[in-house]
Amino acid sequence: NYMKDDNVSQETKKLISSLPSDKDFMGYNLYNYKGCWYYPNTLQAVLDVQDHFRPRENDIILASLPKGGTTWLKSLVFAVLHREKYLENPQTTHPLLSQNPHDLVPFLEIELYASSQTPDLTKFPSPMIFSTHMHLNTLREATKKSSSSPCKVVYVCRGLKDTFVSGWHYKNKLHRTEMDQASFELLFDSYCRGVTLYGPYWEQMLSYWKGSLEDKENVLFMRYEEIVEEPLIQVKRLAGFLNCPFTKEEEEGGSVEKILKLCSLRNLSNLETNKNGTTRIGIDSNVFFRKGEVGDWKNHLTPQMAKRFDDIVEGRLQGSGLTF
Ligand code: A3P
Repeated sequence: NYMKDDNVSQETKKLISSLPSDKDFMGYNLYNYKGCWYYPNTLQAVLDVQDHFRPRENDIILASLPKGGTTWLKSLVFAVLHREKYLENPQTTHPLLSQNPHDLVPFLEIELYASSQTPDLTKFPSPMIFSTHMHLNTLREATKKSSSSPCKVVYVCRGLKDTFVSGWHYKNKLHRTEMDQASFELLFDSYCRGVTLYGPYWEQMLSYWKGSLEDKENVLFMRYEEIVEEPLIQVKRLAGFLNCPFTKEEEEGGSVEKILKLCSLRNLSNLETNKNGTTRIGIDSNVFFRKGEVGDWKNHLTPQMAKRFDDIVEGRLQGSGLTF
């Protein structure tokens, strides 16, 4: 539905007609608004977020590349923030055991503002955690209009070749098909040109990278691979950034380990709710979980494809201090 244009206002239609356009690998139109590619309905939702979303103090926004570790980050932040309420409380079932992380941390433009210009945001536990794939400059258009201080943003990204491969599998599962090699190559070509929803991904990464350098207190830049490599350190870093560092007693009591175990791919993907359930927006919950391996791109991209892509990204990131 997000690829279509049935939610687009007359005003946005007018805007769209003035924007650069291109087609995705399936032939759907994408439009470039301020450096980022969108389908019409997604652009409408993004504009609505900018016009109407006003975060409150203490709200937290999780930003990510699509397939960059969103589900993991959502579960970790939820578990860290609400640890007092749920982790050690035998009276309650931890919400992560009965609900998909995407239902606990809703997307602004994919869920909340996709169906309404003024969604009810009070039904989620406080502090509210939202998520987005928007570039930071686009997100800040909304948050800077808020009367409270800019809310904290946690960003996670991932090696772009693994992100691509993960996205390929996700698309196949979502459409319940096995797309052919020709489609794989078409998608890869679009990816190299940056013409994908929320692309170019390197621009999205750069926006958060620069934001994190300029405003350390409010923007945290994380990497999927770092969480895989040094999970304890990264979760503690996350908690510190969110102003709820683990106490000595918590650390000694194994609180960080418990959170990591709860949020692990193995644990979450084996839960009934994630095996057979559907999320609030009607997506099979199991499509968010696959291998979680670093370097899986090697099983799918030829060395030539990898080189072509690396050269492009290297060129775009040059001088930024961000490397992959
Ligand atoms: P793979 O397809 O490489 O396995 P997103 O959450 O942004 O949609 O990204 C999905 C990717 O994150 C998938 O990668 C998925 O397997 C992985 N993933 C999902 N939940 C995870 C978790 N709890 N821990 C680690 N990786 C996870």
